[in-house]
Amino acid sequence: MELGLKGKSVIVTGGASNIGRGIVHCFAREGMNIMIADLDDGQAKKVADEAKALGSKASVVKTDVTNYDAVEAMVKKTIDEFGAVDILVNNVGWDLQQLFIDTNTDFWDKIIAINYRSVLNCSKAVLGHMIERNSGVILSTGSDAGRIGEFREAVYGGTKGAVIAFTKAVSREVGRYNVRLNVVCPGVTIPQSEDEYGDDSGWKLSRGFFTEEVMAKVVKAYPLRRLGTSEDIGNAMVFLASDAANFITGQTLSVSGGYSMM
Ligand SMILES: NC(=O)c1ccc[n+]([C@@H]2O[C@H](COP(=O)([O-])OP(=O)(O)OC[C@H]3O[C@@H](n4cnc5c(N)ncnc54)[C@H](O)[C@@H]3O)[C@@H](O)[C@H]2O)c1
Repeated sequence: MELGLKGKSVIVTGGASNIGRGIVHCFAREGMNIMIADLDDGQAKKVADEAKALGSKASVVKTDVTNYDAVEAMVKKTIDEFGAVDILVNNVGWDLQQLFIDTNTDFWDKIIAINYRSVLNCSKAVLGHMIERNSGVILSTGSDAGRIGEFREAVYGGTKGAVIAFTKAVSREVGRYNVRLNVVCPGVTIPQSEDEYGDDSGWKLSRGFFTEEVMAKVVKAYPLRRLGTSEDIGNAMVFLASDAANFITGQTLSVSGGYSMM
C-alpha cells in the first residue's frame, strides 16, 4: 500500500510522552519531517533524537497549546523550517480521575483548556494554510471516554466528545478543500517505562496505580485481552494521515482492542 508520507511534514502536539512519543516513532519510520510541540522541551528533544535515529527530520518547539499566540508562532516555525504543514496531530491531553461531584471550576477550566481549547487553537492556526494549499489532514487523539462515558472521567469525557463533534463539523466545512479530519480513540495505554514519559505527563502521578493485579482486572474488559500500546495508536494515525485514507473524513476510530464498539 502506498502511504505517500515520505518527506511530508507533521506537527505532533504532546509528542514528548507516551502516546505522542509512539505517534512520533511511527511517523519517523515513514521518513517524515516532524515538529514536536510540547511544554516539556527536554523530554521532547530526547524523542526528536529517537525520531532522527529512525530516519526522519525532527525538531522541537516549546509550546503551550492552550495559548493561541504561542500556537501561531509554533505553526510559523514549522512552515519556516519544513516549508509546509501537511498534517497536524492534536494529541495533548490531561485528566485526573475523580467523581464529578468532587470537581471544582478551576479543574473544569484546566481540563477544557488542555483537551478542547488546544484542539481549537491548533486547528485554527493550520487550517488557512491547508485550505490555501488545497491539502491537509488534522488528526486528534480522542478517548473512548468521549464515546461511551466513563466513571470518574465526566469532564474529560465531555471534552473528548467535544473534539469528536468539532471534527465532524469542520470536516463538513473544509472537505471541499481536500482537508480531512479524523479522531483516534485509545483505550488505557500505559507507558512501559519511565523513559517513555516526561515530567508534565499525567502518568507521573498515576502510573503507580496500575499494579499487575489492577492490570489483570482491567484487561478483562478488552476482548483482545491486552492493553494498547502507543504504537497501536501511532499506526492508526499513520494510516489516517496517508493517501490510503484519502476518502475518510469526519470519522472516529477506537483503537482499544474492542473495549468500545460503536
Ligand atoms: N494514555 C491513555 O490511557 C489514554 C487513553 C485515552 C486517551 N488518551 C489521550 O491520548 C493523549 C496522550 O495521552 P498520554 O497518556 O500520552 O499523555 P501524557 O500525559 O503522557 O503526555 C501528554 C504530553 O502533553 C504535554 N502537554 C501537557 N499540557 C500541554 C500544553 N498545555 N501544551 C503543550 N504540551 C502539553 C506533556 O508535556 C506531555 O508530554 C491525550 O489526548 C489523552 O487524553 C490517553
